[in-house]
Amino acid sequence: MKHDIANPHLSELGDRRVEWAGRRMQVLAGIRERFREERPLDGRTVVACLHVTAETANLMLALRDGGAEVALCASNPLSTQDDVAASLVAAGIPVFAIRGEDDETYYEHIDAVLDMEPDVTMDDGADLVSVLHTRRTDLTPLGSTEETTTGVIRLRALAEAGDLRFPVLAVNDSDTKHLFDNRFGTGQSAMDGIIRASNVLIAGLNVVVVGFGDCGRGVASRADGLGARVVVVEIDPIRALEAKLEGHEVMTADDAAAVGDIFITVTGNKHVLRRRHFEVMKDGAILSNAGHFDIELELSALDEMAESRHPIREHLEEYRLPDGRRVLVAAEGRLVNLGAAEGHPADVMDLSFSNQALAAEWLIQNAGKLDATIHRLPKELDDDVAATKLEALGGGLEVLTPEQEAYLASWTEGT
Ligand code: ADE
Repeated sequence: MKHDIANPHLSELGDRRVEWAGRRMQVLAGIRERFREERPLDGRTVVACLHVTAETANLMLALRDGGAEVALCASNPLSTQDDVAASLVAAGIPVFAIRGEDDETYYEHIDAVLDMEPDVTMDDGADLVSVLHTRRTDLTPLGSTEETTTGVIRLRALAEAGDLRFPVLAVNDSDTKHLFDNRFGTGQSAMDGIIRASNVLIAGLNVVVVGFGDCGRGVASRADGLGARVVVVEIDPIRALEAKLEGHEVMTADDAAAVGDIFITVTGNKHVLRRRHFEVMKDGAILSNAGHFDIELELSALDEMAESRHPIREHLEEYRLPDGRRVLVAAEGRLVNLGAAEGHPADVMDLSFSNQALAAEWLIQNAGKLDATIHRLPKELDDDVAATKLEALGGGLEVLTPEQEAYLASWTEGT
């Protein structure tokens, strides 16, 4: 079995982490049990380009138990958990991922999984699909799944231009994905990354959240819960107003730059904090990014402005400016939650990866029947995932009485 990982001797440590995460992924465990009995992926090859974490390992094991031949490469060079990669390899699953790998190796690893001629590909950021539309048009999977908002935006652009070559299932569009992973997952794990990188007390600080989508909303709420004064920067008037009524300050990036102690970008856009903002920041300001790509902070400008830069702690680098101010950057401006912490907790990845497992099954069940557009999972599956998780967490779901059902039906009949 071919693979490329940092250190196979880490597998026992990885096994323990994978098992620990699996305990909190009850919905995925149920799907895995059904997959073992029904083998819906038998004879199919499913390859994934996802963050190589303990949670992803549980997904890969579920897919394998469903009958698929599986392989995994990283969707970010800095997020790989090398012990988890070793654990998967020891379990017979090919992994091509090394924490801190350079760009060339990153793309070699993408090619390595594509060489398996997959029936289904899974992306977190659309890298596999991109390569399948450029260098590897020799391969046409029957479908692909996409985990993240940024990936879905990239794919929608491709579909709208009429260039998408095969169907894509936007897992991010499931309510049980974006309403939970993006909010509660990014919210907690981004703050976790900042705290691990800096160990500063958040209470009393001005935390600037740039972008108030699902992820930004989550980050703002968790920062607020830790006692920060939250400042939101947003271009969309509706979202900005929502942020205001949530009790956050709403400011332009210029105004926020001068008051922030900690900055977290979550926009999906480029250089949302740039030279003009760095010029007015306070001494000791900490910059971080929780958006998919490492483009949100204009670090090349900060580098040009700085007299010197040096690591000050693990995952925290200090840039010294000529006027004596120090600006600190967490996790090299890459996803702070995965670079400086362990990504979203298993509890929430359970929802996202249950959707991924169901998405692979759905694409295979519907092979040949789907247009080369963006699809989403049927609502019943979304509802099932939510109901199963609620039960696992100990919540009761109310049901309509026959009279209430009849009352609602009378409204529909009248329309
Ligand atoms: N994305 C965010 N957190 C993650 C995790 N723990 N595993 C895989 N992908 C993630």
